[in-house]
Amino acid sequence: QTEISRVRNLQRVQMGKHEMEPWYFSPYPQTFTEADMVYICEFCLSYYDSLKPFQRHRAKCTLLHPPGNEIYRDDYVSFFEIDGRRQRRWCRNLCLLSKLFLDHKTLYYDVDPFLFYCMTTRDDHGCHLVGYFSKEKESAEGYNVACILTLPQYQRMGFGKLLIAFSYELSKREGKLGSPEKPLSDLGLLGYRAYWAETVVDLLTEEGRGGEVSVEEIGSLSAMTTGDVLHTLQNLNMLRYSKGNHVIVLTDAVLHQQRKQREKEKIKGKRRVDPERLVWKPPV
Ligand code: COA
Ligand code: NA
Repeated sequence: QTEISRVRNLQRVQMGKHEMEPWYFSPYPQTFTEADMVYICEFCLSYYDSLKPFQRHRAKCTLLHPPGNEIYRDDYVSFFEIDGRRQRRWCRNLCLLSKLFLDHKTLYYDVDPFLFYCMTTRDDHGCHLVGYFSKEKESAEGYNVACILTLPQYQRMGFGKLLIAFSYELSKREGKLGSPEKPLSDLGLLGYRAYWAETVVDLLTEEGRGGEVSVEEIGSLSAMTTGDVLHTLQNLNMLRYSKGNHVIVLTDAVLHQQRKQREKEKIKGKRRVDPERLVWKPPV
């Protein structure tokens, strides 16, 4: 664990078909600061500060997907589970890469205690990394996500919500309630608030549930903690007190927002996690 509070050190990064402009410092080799372009192998995530060695590497690299088990596949994405202890090098490379877009001060070289859930899109050339979240194998605080990232070229396309939805699907399979590690970044908070609001309102408006559902029930149906459910209801101004009890009210504003969201999804297409496609048992 290293303290990092330095300015952005890489100018540009190329990875697969994409070029990215880093947001923050990441402890790549010091000499990389002078490179016009840093090349990252999109499959093994190794890094080069010049083109020739990178091309030699690409000619030899045989990896076509993240080095773990594919635990989910639909016609849109695949998820892979990677164990930090068994794939130490790869996971460290992933942490280095993601630090370029994460503002926290610490970088975890010690990847052993984590599992990494990597989301990819597939084509004839392989499974291309879109984003990931890490998760402690044992979280004393009950966190179900440590770090979460959508690579910048894929942001604002609904992948973040899909990653978050997947993290809660794992918690459901574990029979636990989960919450992301705090503090969340500004973008992290926006992403989670959007996911939480949608999830809670969808559950409340589901056919046949008519007004009878409690905060605890919403929690157990969504794997969200009671605290996160309550905060979400508060943020949406949906909580009233009556004779010492919480009462949840579906306001016109909330229903209007839900209709708007559904309109948007009709155009953009809403991606869901299908629990039946998750081939996964909680690691023992
Ligand atoms: N401005 C305003 N709202 C934003 C936003 C932005 N730049 N980015 C996300 N949101 C909100 C929106 O409500 C959005 O829903 P909408 O597009 O339907 O309006 C919702 O979050 C989810 O967006 P989505 O496209 O599913 O998320 P994403 O793929 O962009 O990923 C993060 C979200 C947080 C993973 C991504 O921003 C990221 O990787 N950030 C850098 C790393 C980071 O800060 N991680 C969190 C550490 S705690
Ligand atoms: Na979470």
